[in-house]
Amino acid sequence: MDPRRNPYAPGAGTKPPALVGRDKQIESFDVLLERLENGYAEQSMIITGLRGVGKTVLLDVFREKAEARDWATVEWEVEKKASFAPRVAAQARKALLQIAPKARWKDRMLRAAATLKSFTLTFNPDGAMTAGVDVDALPGSADSGSLSEDLGDLFVAIGEAARDHGIGVILLLDEIQFLQPEELEGLIVALHRCSRRTLPITLVGAGLPQMPRLAGEAKSYSERLFRFVRIGALSASKDAPDALVLPARELGVEYEQDAIGHIVTYTEGYPYFLQEYGRIVWDEAPASPISEEDVTSVLPMVEERLDESFFRVRAERTTELELRYLYAMAELGPEPHRATDVARRVGRTVEQAGPIRSRLIDKGLLYTPGHGLAAFTVPQFDRYMIRRHSGLAGGVGRA
Ligand SMILES: Nc1ncnc2c1ncn2[C@@H]1O[C@H](COP(=O)(O)OP(=O)(O)OP(=O)(O)O)[C@@H](O)[C@H]1O
Ligand SMILES: [Mg+2]
Repeated sequence: MDPRRNPYAPGAGTKPPALVGRDKQIESFDVLLERLENGYAEQSMIITGLRGVGKTVLLDVFREKAEARDWATVEWEVEKKASFAPRVAAQARKALLQIAPKARWKDRMLRAAATLKSFTLTFNPDGAMTAGVDVDALPGSADSGSLSEDLGDLFVAIGEAARDHGIGVILLLDEIQFLQPEELEGLIVALHRCSRRTLPITLVGAGLPQMPRLAGEAKSYSERLFRFVRIGALSASKDAPDALVLPARELGVEYEQDAIGHIVTYTEGYPYFLQEYGRIVWDEAPASPISEEDVTSVLPMVEERLDESFFRVRAERTTELELRYLYAMAELGPEPHRATDVARRVGRTVEQAGPIRSRLIDKGLLYTPGHGLAAFTVPQFDRYMIRRHSGLAGGVGRA
């Protein structure tokens, strides 16, 4: 069918044609905003889930909602190697300018700007990121050199300025698992100071499933500060079929029941896979309704596309040894595996295999769902490893 009218949207953070199965999370976000607007305390929210389940898309929905309610919104994607404090300073400056235009700054706004200046001088003395915020630093504020302390000063100053202007500030942070431990701790401490003062400033993060553990390790009280919301595959009974059928129906195209069943089974309801499958079968099917045969005949194309666009880039970031570790896990199956079992398969002791496993966690390929366990962060990664890396079979004794 006509590719120009193809509604599906496979990609990273690309808005799906039908955003399904996330009503509960969107509703909780509305509640969070409304409570903060009314001066009630509310926990910050962290969305967690595997790769490609729709975390970034959800953050975007949240941003649009917050903007529609006139909140100041700032967003950034955490990168492992980018320095944190200058990013925070740049975002803080954006938030201040959203709270009020500079010509109207007085009292608390000026104080927040001066605190930002201190923060910038403390953590980034060379490239002071204060264009348009040319005020003097505020001695004694955000200049201790301790990240938690100074971030707290900055957040509180911004939160107070925002409250004075009857506005809230929301920070949207994607890939939050890539924060360094001291950065995560700094954020937690700073947000905690704001929440104790019920200031209208909050964070919504998105990250891999290890986030609750990482936050807990950074600060024990983080469980009370954050609400972790896990999102996953769409339900096979309703949401996954809807994600597929609704966008097509809008354009007058239908699916046969067996065709839907086949795609839902193959994709296991994972949003990214559904979008990819939908896009390819739309392009290749001759006419509506899309039949089961249309669906099965494009399966090799779909698999090829998933390998190229989704799996391979992740596998490429590994060393030979790490790849062998992943292969051993894949052979054991898609579920979480005990470190001891995987180590045995690559012919090593748990101690010897420990660093390999840690590096894979660090690279965002594995996470630990429980003590001594490891699982793939990428859905169906086991299948990919088996179909593409079978040359690595028989790891035992070869490591
Ligand atoms: N609720 C949904 N319904 C249908 N499709 C969705 C939904 N959420 C996301 N998608 C689609 O899934 C794909 C992946 O979404 P997104 O990039 O937000 O995932 P992610 O969890 O951020 O992945 P990653 O961890 O790799 O960053 C996109 O193509 C998007 O259009
Ligand atoms: Mg994402």
